[in-house]
Amino acid sequence: MIAEGKRNMTAKSSGLEGIIVGDTAISTVGKEGLGLTYRGFDIHELAAKSTFEEVAFLLTYGNLPKSAELHAYREKLIKLRRIPNELKTVLELMPRSAHPMEVLRTGISMLGTLESESTHYKDHQIADRLIACTPSILLYWYRFHQFNEKIETWNSNEPTVAGYFLYLLHGEKPSDEMRRAVDVSLILYAEHELNASTFAARVTASTESDFYSAIVSAIGTLRGALHGGANEEAMRLISNYKTPEQAEKGVRELLAKKAKIMGFGHRVYKKSDPRSDIIKEWSKKLSANARDGYLYPVSEAIEKVLWDEKKLFPNLDFYSASAYHFCGIPTPLFTPIFVMSRLTGWSAHIFEQRGNNRLIRPEANYNGPGPRAFVPVDQRG
Ligand code: COA
Repeated sequence: MIAEGKRNMTAKSSGLEGIIVGDTAISTVGKEGLGLTYRGFDIHELAAKSTFEEVAFLLTYGNLPKSAELHAYREKLIKLRRIPNELKTVLELMPRSAHPMEVLRTGISMLGTLESESTHYKDHQIADRLIACTPSILLYWYRFHQFNEKIETWNSNEPTVAGYFLYLLHGEKPSDEMRRAVDVSLILYAEHELNASTFAARVTASTESDFYSAIVSAIGTLRGALHGGANEEAMRLISNYKTPEQAEKGVRELLAKKAKIMGFGHRVYKKSDPRSDIIKEWSKKLSANARDGYLYPVSEAIEKVLWDEKKLFPNLDFYSASAYHFCGIPTPLFTPIFVMSRLTGWSAHIFEQRGNNRLIRPEANYNGPGPRAFVPVDQRG
């Protein structure tokens, strides 16, 4: 990491825009002729032909699994779903009013005290464990505080992460369509090069800190509205309008007030986000059977205004919002789904950082006061 640092000691970039800080073999984002690829595979092909478990294996183990490997990996993840009683107690003690991202940040941190990184729990064991049990942590807390139920977290009726999440949320088998919609969204959210949360994970890993600390740094970073939190904000926006006409008028007014419209724009992509059309198709498909299917035409109306007015395009978060809503997922759980998926990318980056580590420590351009004499406190008046 940090390959460019010494080249020009005076160079500075607001928000580190355009700065290349190192090498990665995990993904490409917006590179000419490549678009978004995970270890060389195009995101469109992965979303159309693979499952989240295959992508999780690809990212964390480095290659697509063979059939027997995939079977064994799925079985392993099912076995790792159960969460310890001490963690359940902590989840019960957390307030009902907590944000689910706070619950994940604290829940995963608590797990890190019970199964702390050691010779017993290391690298892949922790990554597999977190991919398997994060839906359990989230939904144990949710069902306890919303419905006063203590759910079992060892359930194996639903072999996939997407199906398990929906099963725990709704207490019943999901439809094939909803299960696949969530599965595809997990594939799309899994990895995205040096986005802010992944960079946070790598910075933490670069200090030789433990695996859980790197993941918790990433969760805290993902939560913000400019990053993962944008899908929740996008849902709040589209729910404000009942017709495309209302949406068009309302969003024009917001833009006139220089408001940011969450779910639009991107730091790296300049023309479009290759993931957006994929999730948009799913949103459209799911809207056909939804009671509030008007949210889809409302979303399209907002997309048109943003393009006409500012040439801004939807990123993955925008149509994920309506797609999740149509699957009956409460809005505060949207960003935690992002965590369930991105754990794979974060883990891959932690392994990569550890494989060729150098402390990440950039420098700042000082613009504070010049040298001045220190005055002892009793002489300061
Ligand atoms: N709504 C309205 N205007 C936007 C915008 C949005 N979503 N995204 C960018 N812009 C405008 C800015 O207001 C700014 O305009 P100005 O030059 O007239 O001041 C210009 O575009 C550049 O924006 P800036 O915030 O500096 O770009 P960035 O590269 O730092 O930001 C994002 C990238 C993603 C943070 C930004 O597009 C954004 O805030 N989007 C909304 C949050 C979001 O969806 N996040 C998820 C990202 S995957």
